Amino acid sequence: MFVPGLIERKRDGGALSAGEWGELVAAFHAGQVPDYQMAALLMAVFLRGMTREETAALLDAMVASGSRLDFGGLGRPVVDKHSTGGVGDKVSLVLAPLAAALGLAVPMMSGRGLGHTGGTLDKLESIPGFRTGLSLAETRAQVERIGVAMIGQTPEIAPVDKRLYAMRDVTATVECLPLIACSIMSKKLAEGLDGLVLDVKQGSGAFLTDAAKSLELAKTMIALGEDRGCRTVALLTAMDRPLGRACGNALETEEAIMALRGEGPEDLVEETVALAVEMVMLGRTGTRAHGPSGEDTPARRRTDAPTRRSSDAPRTAERAAVDRAGAEQEVHAALASGKAAEKFQALVEAQGGNPAVLEDPSVLPQANEVEVYSAPRSGTVLRVEPRTIGRAVVEMGGGRTKAEDAVDPTVGFVISARPGQAVRAGEPVASIFARDTAGIALGRKALDAAIAIGEGRAETLPLLAARVTAEGVEEP
Ligand code: URA
Repeated sequence: MFVPGLIERKRDGGALSAGEWGELVAAFHAGQVPDYQMAALLMAVFLRGMTREETAALLDAMVASGSRLDFGGLGRPVVDKHSTGGVGDKVSLVLAPLAAALGLAVPMMSGRGLGHTGGTLDKLESIPGFRTGLSLAETRAQVERIGVAMIGQTPEIAPVDKRLYAMRDVTATVECLPLIACSIMSKKLAEGLDGLVLDVKQGSGAFLTDAAKSLELAKTMIALGEDRGCRTVALLTAMDRPLGRACGNALETEEAIMALRGEGPEDLVEETVALAVEMVMLGRTGTRAHGPSGEDTPARRRTDAPTRRSSDAPRTAERAAVDRAGAEQEVHAALASGKAAEKFQALVEAQGGNPAVLEDPSVLPQANEVEVYSAPRSGTVLRVEPRTIGRAVVEMGGGRTKAEDAVDPTVGFVISARPGQAVRAGEPVASIFARDTAGIALGRKALDAAIAIGEGRAETLPLLAARVTAEGVEEP
């Protein structure tokens, strides 16, 4: 295999064959292709895109670079969710224990901060002692015992994604539809899931800012998942403003805990509930029969989906609406009863974290410097620009600019100003949390740029814009 020739072909707009992708990824995994060649290829892919066949071939090669989790015989549907990445997106911390409290098995595998977005692992690791580096055997045992594990990519799971992810983060090649699709789906398919819910962000803080691209990303991942036997559903959600109020690792963990305790911001709770309902619905229509023998029957594939007689359609739609309403009630009940919060506590304890964090979030690391930021003028909040906020968190030390950087969990923002809200000059609209006064200055500058206050109406995207399945797109 002559790697410069492959790079050149991609650079010039050609395609690699499935065999070439397979060989290249295997050689990269074996240490026979240096990082600089892979980085060059990633940039060529970023600029030129990939065909459907190439995307599928890269995905399969990435999954094949590691092992697959096997949950055969668990007796519970195995369902997960993954977000395409956003600012203030702490949904996973609430959703994973919530779904487990509802009887699903959730082996959630997440990533670290990427580009301007935060990562679930960095948030979880802000809990003193929390260990995200579980082995596959530990993960399986924990999911059997308490229904949920929240882990980083083990060396066994899609190891090539782990390396590419870190490389993309520092080579400006994150915002690329086929690379995002392969990255997410390689981890998720290796988890051996029955069902997957995707939270596909749209808006200026998403990796793909164009709404049409977000939809295309959702459709691409759904097709990749369903073709490989994993029922996949996506919700298109707003990322034209941060989700919730907190942005920054420990601050977001605290806000997620507040949501589990019934005191979370409305948008965070609404989005989490919507995703949880999808997880429950997927768990119910589960794709595998978990037989007593422990053998999983093959998952349903799009191509062998049962054909439905048209006269059944109204009854089926009615039934689905009833099921959905029931699922919604169950999700709300699991939050209100404290079952989801208890599950979170069990999860933290199981993974070595300080379980007192649920009752007392002040055990989370605290910033050295805190400053209140006030509205510089009166008017309507027209915009809270998530990308500016996310980048500032990274610059203040809460994310990475080099793969080996350590992350400061304490820094970030709590922004109470929401688009559409009327504010008066001098009214507190945010707090800045930083390591030192230079960090505070950086944070202040970012808020000046991110929060637009003026006259007129704020134009915002709907929090839940669409539900996408293999069958089509619906408004939720
Ligand atoms: N999340 C991932 O796991 N990978 C991406 O490329 C983007 C978001």
